[in-house]
Amino acid sequence: MEENGMHGNDSCAPHCNGDSPSPEHRPEKEEEIRIGDPPLSKSAGKKLKKLQRYEEKKARQKAMAKQIKERSKEQKRQDWADKLAGLGEEERSNLIQAKVDARKERRAQMLQDRQLTKQKLKNAQQSGQNIVLDLELCELMTSGEISSLMQQIMYCYAANKKSSTPAHIWLTGCRGKIKSRLEKVPGFDNWHVEKEECYYIEALKERKDNLVYLTADSENVVKELDSSKIYIIGGLVDRNRFKGITMQKAEDQGIQTVKLPISEHLRMTSSQVLTVNQVFEILITYLELKDWKKSLMKVIPQRKRSEVDYSDPSNEAKKVTVSNDNSGEETSCTFESTEKEEEVTLQT
Ligand SMILES: C[S@@+](CC[C@H](N)C(=O)[O-])C[C@H]1O[C@@H](n2cnc3c(N)ncnc32)[C@H](O)[C@@H]1O
Repeated sequence: MEENGMHGNDSCAPHCNGDSPSPEHRPEKEEEIRIGDPPLSKSAGKKLKKLQRYEEKKARQKAMAKQIKERSKEQKRQDWADKLAGLGEEERSNLIQAKVDARKERRAQMLQDRQLTKQKLKNAQQSGQNIVLDLELCELMTSGEISSLMQQIMYCYAANKKSSTPAHIWLTGCRGKIKSRLEKVPGFDNWHVEKEECYYIEALKERKDNLVYLTADSENVVKELDSSKIYIIGGLVDRNRFKGITMQKAEDQGIQTVKLPISEHLRMTSSQVLTVNQVFEILITYLELKDWKKSLMKVIPQRKRSEVDYSDPSNEAKKVTVSNDNSGEETSCTFESTEKEEEVTLQT
């Protein structure tokens, strides 16, 4: 394995073949009712009606959006026809040619951008900062939470594509339900990431000493990103139901842990437990800016934070309260402990 250019499957242990009981064949919606099923309880009935109303609303919105789009297209077509109708023969053909040329140029530019992005991501797979999304914990999540995680993974990939300093992404423990769901994402086959059925502890066993688990429950604050390290983010959407689970896991495996330097730079209005994509985006933004404060500010939504200017002496007291709080129980007066993550849901 190369220093920063590790490649996919070479360290996969023979037993690690993704042989989990094929959850991909499980029906997606547990709510589905079939003839002969026992009658629903009152709350299940309510839930089902709510779901039906939601589906109907979604279908109506979709139909309306389609109609608006078609109308706008038609309007454009009409405007164009009107414009041409008012012109002489030569002017008309010049205008048409200009439009054709502009379209060609746009296409060529798009193609070039795509090639550049592809090359950038390929380079990242050779020498980018290694970041693992640990999907081993997927078994603990509900179907809805897996949908949220899917969306977050997609956000991570999209952010990496846009970044001028993209990371080398590893999806480890990519098996079972999450794998089959990811495989349905258009273009997933072409993603420039390492897709490992093995858990990271197997896939990266030769570099175990360089593994660093990011967890809000760590007592260690990350100072800077070390290119020789492999940073792991827990692929978990749990509204912190499993508080401390990644910390415990890393401790059991003898892996270093760090948390993001949030208290050092921001005053949060909610929990310091961020979503997978927020953590990922903070890391890649840091790779670009080499500045934690700017990276945190760029990614953490305004409503979840208020900036603390520690150069202002009147904030000194807050600094002491915040930096001493390693308990993970954000009970001091500088935090509200809502423990609620930002959630995104994906309709599949
Ligand atoms: C939604 S959190 C999962 C919380 C989960 N209860 C746990 O114990 O990790 C998703 C992942 O983002 C990372 N993460 C979230 N907030 C973090 C923070 N403040 N510092 C470091 N990593 C964080 C962790 O890797 C975490 O597993």
